[in-house]
Amino acid sequence: MATEFTQRVFSGIQPSGGLTLGNYLGAIKRFVDMQGSDFETIYCMVDLHAITVWQDPADLRKNTRELCAGFIASGIDPEQSVLFNQSQVPEHTQLGWIFNTVARMGWLNRMTQFKDKAGKNRENSSVGLFAYPALMAADILVYHATHVPVGEDQKQHVELTRDIAAKFNHDYGVDFFPITEPVIEGAATRVMSLRDGSKKMSKSDASDMSRINMTDDADAIAQKIRKARTDPDALPSEVEGLKDRAEARNLVNIYAALEDCSVEQVLADVGGKQFSEFKPMLAELAVDKLSPISTEMARLMTQPDEIDKILARGAERARELASPILKKTYEIVGMVGS
Ligand code: TYM
Repeated sequence: MATEFTQRVFSGIQPSGGLTLGNYLGAIKRFVDMQGSDFETIYCMVDLHAITVWQDPADLRKNTRELCAGFIASGIDPEQSVLFNQSQVPEHTQLGWIFNTVARMGWLNRMTQFKDKAGKNRENSSVGLFAYPALMAADILVYHATHVPVGEDQKQHVELTRDIAAKFNHDYGVDFFPITEPVIEGAATRVMSLRDGSKKMSKSDASDMSRINMTDDADAIAQKIRKARTDPDALPSEVEGLKDRAEARNLVNIYAALEDCSVEQVLADVGGKQFSEFKPMLAELAVDKLSPISTEMARLMTQPDEIDKILARGAERARELASPILKKTYEIVGMVGS
């Protein structure tokens, strides 16, 4: 009989710069929704992933604390969820090494995020950037996580995690690692740039006008939405009317995700309106939902010691879960002493 695994959610975010609206709607807001449901929830600031591209140490420290503040300000309760930074739980890297020996070069060669990030500079990329997905599989599987909420851009990595789990189970003749499900749901699993509807909203985009940062104040948010690229037509009343209108679709998706309703509902209300009318509505909604978060983040950032305490406690709880799973993995693999 197949093993029954505890319903457990794991997800991670890189502390590699400011949080964007894409991270919030595609990830954190959904992490909050899963908290307190039937799942145990484990959320991680993946600092070891961040350093696969250069990070200034002082910035990394600040960004890790700011990300933690972002989680808490958005509604992650560090008592209810396990909240920690990756480097404090060495079991991730230990299992990551085992998975480096399970994953195949060909599998990693197909990863589009590596191709995007390495670009033409492949020879000069870090080995860590290439091996990244094996560590990500370890992040997930060191907790036997069954569900991983992510944005669409991470789907391929979660599929690779499934391949690694299946190959490990097969090679060692065990039913030890679960075949994890990616959870990619809702209106905002791929929030696009405000300047170009064909590009993902990203913290690394050169233009700050392309994204809403979670630390932006009300004026900045309103201005970015006012200047967002659109087309000259009115909004449609039906979803089909958004076809081939990437920028319009993006703004409607953002509205739906912020308002917690479906795209159909939004269009039923705003169909027929011009952008000159819709944009102020969206700006008001965004400011309404995001300002309390940025205010709370700023407040938490004045207490870095508190943040560090929360992370230390989270790491302790995470290790309690991860260490027996790593120990058992070592035993299966044949490590003497385990
Ligand atoms: P990262 O740090 O790039 O992004 C964190 C989360 O935010 C989502 N996201 C978006 N969602 C919608 N629209 C966007 N424009 C957008 N931009 C980012 C991402 O899909 C992600 O869910 N490899 C991961 C971090 C990671 C991880 C893990 C995730 C490491 N280990 C284990 C899950 C499980 C990453 O680089 O995400």
